[in-house]
Amino acid sequence: MIYLQEGPIAPVLAKRVADLQACAYAETGMRPWHADEIASLLNNSCNRLYVAHEDDFKNASLKAFLLVTFVAGEAEILAIAVDPHHQRCGVASQIMKRMIQDCEQAGIGHIMLEVAETNKAAQSLYHTLTFVKVGYRLQYYTFDGIEVDAYILKRQIEPVTK
Ligand SMILES: CC(C)(COP(=O)(O)OP(=O)(O)OC[C@H]1O[C@@H](n2cnc3c(N)ncnc32)[C@H](O)[C@@H]1OP(=O)(O)O)[C@@H](O)C(=O)NCCC(=O)NCCS
Repeated sequence: MIYLQEGPIAPVLAKRVADLQACAYAETGMRPWHADEIASLLNNSCNRLYVAHEDDFKNASLKAFLLVTFVAGEAEILAIAVDPHHQRCGVASQIMKRMIQDCEQAGIGHIMLEVAETNKAAQSLYHTLTFVKVGYRLQYYTFDGIEVDAYILKRQIEPVTK
C-alpha cells in the first residue's frame, strides 16, 4: 500500500523514514538525512511524502519512501529509497507511478531530478519510467571525499483530459 503524507509528520514517522534512508543509501555513498531534516521538509506545504508499507501501517516496517516537492507547475524529486530487503520487487516503480499519477491530476507539467553518474540502479529505474537526460552537473555530489557528477533528468507529464 502507498500512503501520501502532506503536512507535518510525527517524529516517529520521520525517524522510520530516516532509518530506511540510511540503510538504503549505505551502498551509494549518498548522505542520508537526519529525522529532524525530514520532519522540517514536511513542514513546508510544497513537499509531499509517499510511503510504501505493508497492509498494517502502524506495525509494519516501511518498504520505501519518496519525497517530492510540487512548486510552480513543476515537481522535483528530493529523495527516493527502498529498503534493501524489498529491492528489485517493483516497489520504487509502484511509488513513482503513484506520484506521476498525482502529478497528472495536479496539472504538473514535468518532473525533474538529479542522479549521480555512478548510481546505475537509479538511472535504470528512471529510464524505465521514461525520464530523459537534459543536463549535467559537474562535481554535484561528494561521496566519501570523492566528487561525483550528476545527470539532470526530466519527465514530461501529459495533462489528464477531463
Ligand atoms: C534505486 C532504487 C530506488 C530502486 O528501487 P527498486 O524498488 O529496487 O526498483 P524496482 O524494483 O521498481 O526496479 C524497476 C527497474 O529499475 C531498474 N533497477 C532497479 N534496481 C536496479 C539495480 N540494482 N540494477 C540495475 N537496474 C535496476 C530495473 O530496470 C528494474 O526493472 P527490473 O527489476 O524489471 O529489471 C533502490 O535501489 C534504492 O533505494 N537505492 C538506494 C537509494 C537511491 O539510489 N535512490 C535514488 C537516488 S537518485
